[in-house]
Parts: sequence; structure tokens; C-alpha cells
Amino acid sequence: MNTAKPIPQHVAIIMDGNGRWAKRQGKERTEGHIAGVETIRRTLRAAAKQGVKYLTFYAFSTENWGRPEAEVNALMELLCKSIICETPALKEQGARVRIIGERSRFSEKVQHYLTQIEQDTAEGERITMVLALNYSSRDELRRAMQSIANKVKEGTLAVESIDEKLISDHLDTAFMPDPDLVIRTSGEQRLSNFLMWQASYAEFYFPEVLWPDFSEEDFAEALEVYTARDRRFGKVK
Ligand code: FPP
Repeated sequence: MNTAKPIPQHVAIIMDGNGRWAKRQGKERTEGHIAGVETIRRTLRAAAKQGVKYLTFYAFSTENWGRPEAEVNALMELLCKSIICETPALKEQGARVRIIGERSRFSEKVQHYLTQIEQDTAEGERITMVLALNYSSRDELRRAMQSIANKVKEGTLAVESIDEKLISDHLDTAFMPDPDLVIRTSGEQRLSNFLMWQASYAEFYFPEVLWPDFSEEDFAEALEVYTARDRRFGKVK
């Protein structure tokens, strides 16, 4: 009998609670995001150690542009700075970085760094870290539908060939499997426009801990909860 515990191949994380964490400490919200980057680093190491192959972080949603300008600017600066600082360690641990989301809305500088980190880490084979940036599920589906409709219009795609696989192949996430486990920290229990198509059969886990405090033990606990779940994919065992 095979008693090996299943490890989720793909874990997707909605990092929530940076602002509340900062407020509780009497700090600016930006300090919460800075602490959040440290948690990303820690969680990536924990996931790689456990054998997770894809780890997706919801880092900036299409809705996040509506935050105060100073906070958006601080997040952009933090993103560029983190890319510069983290790239050597990512390469060293065999991590490949991929971006999902629509990147033309970012400044040229940010777009440059996004391309750079994807190129610099392209050889990484141990784990793929996916950053969802200017991402939302509805926007991703809109772009996929436009792309499919254009192919039909040009005559390179027959309407009858539009099946679930073809739709999946037109999403930003086409290069990876669907998430097995979605974690959202801070006690909120919403998907907030994140991987809605892809998470159809995912397990969900909602720990109370705020993202900056999410520890390696919390990650291990999430995997244990996942392991204990009975995934039937709509079928009978
Ligand atoms: C949610 O906490 C967090 C975010 C919207 C941003 C997450 C970003 C990072 C961890 C930094 C890395 C990413 C970039 C783009 C540099 P919240 O601010 O909504 O917290 P709250 O709900 O307590 O206010």
C-alpha cells in the first residue's frame, strides 16, 4: 500500500493582512508590505523544501490601483527593489520566476525588471514562483476570450474546437497545473477575483494569521490540512 502523503503540486496564496499587521504595530501600511516580502522569501524556501513545484502569490490585483497613490508607488518601488535584492538567492535555490497578469499598465521601469527576473531565473528547475501582478481572474478571462475570438475571426480556429483545454491554454497560467491548494491569510474567506477558473477543484484553507506573521510552521500546517482532505473531483471514491 502506498502510504506516501500527497504534496500539493501547486499552492496559490492570497497574502492578506499586511495593513492590519502594520496598524497593530503602530507602523505605516508600507511597513506591512515590507514585512510581507520577508514572508514570501520564507514561504518559498519552505515550499521548495516540502517538494511543492509551483507557488503562486497574489501580489497586486487589478483593483489595487485604487489604493492611495503613495501606497501604490511604495508597492512598485518595493517590487523593483525586491527583484534586485532577491534574484541571486532565487537563482541559487533553483527557483524560476514567472509573472501572470497584464503588464503593459506598469511603468517601463517595472516592466523592465519583470522581464529581467524572468530571464535571469529561467533555468530554475526546483520550484516555480509565480507572481500575479496587475492580475484578476475576470481580466484574464476577458483577454483570453479576445484572443480566442480573434482567431475565430481570422479563420484559424473553429468555434467547435473551443473546449475547456483550449480556454485553459489561453490563460496566463497555461504553463502550469491548476492549484491544488489555495491559502488566504488573515481570516478573510474570499477568492477576490483570483484564479477563479483554475481553482475549480482546489482545496481552500483560511488561517487567521496575518501575512507578515505567516510562518514555516503555518505553511506545514496548511499542507497537513490539505493532506487530510478527501479530494473526489466530483466523483465517488
Ligand atoms: C494584502 O494586504 C497585501 C497586498 C495587497 C500586497 C501584497 C504585497 C506584498 C506582500 C509585497 C510584495 C508585492 C509587491 C507588489 C511589492 P492588505 O494591504 O490588503 O492588508 P489589510 O487587508 O490588512 O489592509
